[in-house]
Amino acid sequence: MKLKINDKDIEVETDGDVPLLWVLRDNLGMTGTKYGCGLAQCGACSVMVDGVVTRSCVTPVESVAGRAITTIESIEEDPVGKKVVEAWVRHQVPQCGYCQSGQVMAATSLLKQSAHPGDDEIRAAMINLCRCGTYNAIRAAMHDIATAESASADVSAGAVAAGGAAVAAAAVAGAALLRSKDSKGDA
Ligand code: FES
Ligand code: FES
Repeated sequence: MKLKINDKDIEVETDGDVPLLWVLRDNLGMTGTKYGCGLAQCGACSVMVDGVVTRSCVTPVESVAGRAITTIESIEEDPVGKKVVEAWVRHQVPQCGYCQSGQVMAATSLLKQSAHPGDDEIRAAMINLCRCGTYNAIRAAMHDIATAESASADVSAGAVAAGGAAVAAAAVAGAALLRSKDSKGDA
């Protein structure tokens, strides 16, 4: 199967129903993307697919073949991702760091859709779990970026809400697809 990851075409040998997370970590050794819950809940496994944050633990790899997958390994090559990483450093956001690649992905995806998000947008988009409780630092970093003059293209809050709903729907659909393939395998 052909995947496009971080702007490189990569051929992988895998079954189509394997979650993208395992292909990244096990087949390709890209361990920056983390496994947390495996249930589309915590966000540790977040990557971007065509610029939209996506839970890779419930995303069958066949569903993203040929689409633009971005992982934490290349996030600083993206101008918006670079801005996020710089703000994360400025505000010393990470503690243990385990959840942070997913947090950076969620932040980058939001800022690609809305360059100057308000508090409500930030709250709605930054829903990844953090056991270390870095939520206040994350919000401070996001507000810092959101109010910067240099932030790029703006879109409406409605587009962000629609993007969030699409992420949730895709996560549910991906989980359902994996479950149905599991139960077929068990039969
Ligand atoms: S590992 Fe928790 S959402 Fe994917
Ligand atoms: S920084 Fe430790 S889990 Fe978030």
